[in-house]
Amino acid sequence: SIIHVILTGGVGSRLWPLSRKSMPKQYLEIFEEKSLFEMTVERNANLADKVMVVGNIDNCHLSEKVMKKLGKDYINIVESTPRNTAAAIAFAAFASQSDDILIITPSDHIIDEMDKYNEAIKNAITKASEGYIVTFGIVPTKPETGYGYIESKGDDVVSFREKPNSVTAKSFIAQGNFLWNSGMFCFKAGVLLDELKAYQPEVYEKSKKAWENNKNGNLNLDLSLDIPSISIDYAVMERSKKIKVVPAAFAWSDLGSFESVYDYLITKGHFVDKFGNMVIGSDKHTTFLGLKNTIFVYTDTANLILQKENSQDVKDLYGELESKN
Ligand code: GDD
Ligand code: MG
Repeated sequence: SIIHVILTGGVGSRLWPLSRKSMPKQYLEIFEEKSLFEMTVERNANLADKVMVVGNIDNCHLSEKVMKKLGKDYINIVESTPRNTAAAIAFAAFASQSDDILIITPSDHIIDEMDKYNEAIKNAITKASEGYIVTFGIVPTKPETGYGYIESKGDDVVSFREKPNSVTAKSFIAQGNFLWNSGMFCFKAGVLLDELKAYQPEVYEKSKKAWENNKNGNLNLDLSLDIPSISIDYAVMERSKKIKVVPAAFAWSDLGSFESVYDYLITKGHFVDKFGNMVIGSDKHTTFLGLKNTIFVYTDTANLILQKENSQDVKDLYGELESKN
């Protein structure tokens, strides 16, 4: 079968205070009364035979609510604690048949131009059935440090570099043959597991053990805590020789940081003053004096004022706030 696997683990810490543990950004009904999670399910509904949701105990009720609303059956995998994407994807693969083709998608992206999206997925399914691990390459528009970079030659991947520093990211952009990794993947379950076993045997073995002891898709906490926390990008994509890239010609936005939300909102006509200052979350008149490229994030319970360039640092701030509680 072809299985659409939705990863929904993160708390969207780079979007605090809009997003937080109790209400991660993918469940906020921010666009046309729909959440990004719901849009993700709908977008892939005709491309796969089954849906699998890999989430955790803090958000499984939020996923369930959406799936009920859509009247969709799904395979539910519930992590007792997030162990990052290598483990989350391993669970999905262990829960599948070795020949099943998995379309892995995050739950928190904006994607437009469905014709191009459908074409890219179909293209990826063909390559996945030939035994490749398929990534989707987006033409980069700036030296973003929060993404993975795919050095490509046609559909071959010369190298994959996850989250380079800004000097390296600038050199990638200058070289011209680097694409952004969209964060979606397509592969046969068995192919991914073989690669994980080869490059991260500890993650493989411990995820396997945790999976084998699951109860109705619920993972045991102690066995999960034992799994090294590493993303699939560092664990497999940077190392595997079986990676291919499919051009992702569709419109894509990872609302991963306030800078990307800012860029996205501008394309939607959201107000920004002539010095590049923006308010998010409030219609109240706000004036910025002597400030440039400042984002004011307003919510009922907390506000954040940041320099757009510091968008990636919000994650650390969230970490500090968490540890104080
Ligand atoms: N179930 C589960 N468990 N899901 C998880 C976990 C986990 O422990 N950790 C993260 N996820 C989910 C997130 O909710 C998100 O949907 C997806 O996996 C990717 O995780 P992020 O934390 O958002 O990754 P990233 O944005 O830093 O980087 C990835 O995406 C970029 C594009 O958006 C990488 O694949 C980059 O290479 C890529 O450019
Ligand atoms: Mg992300």
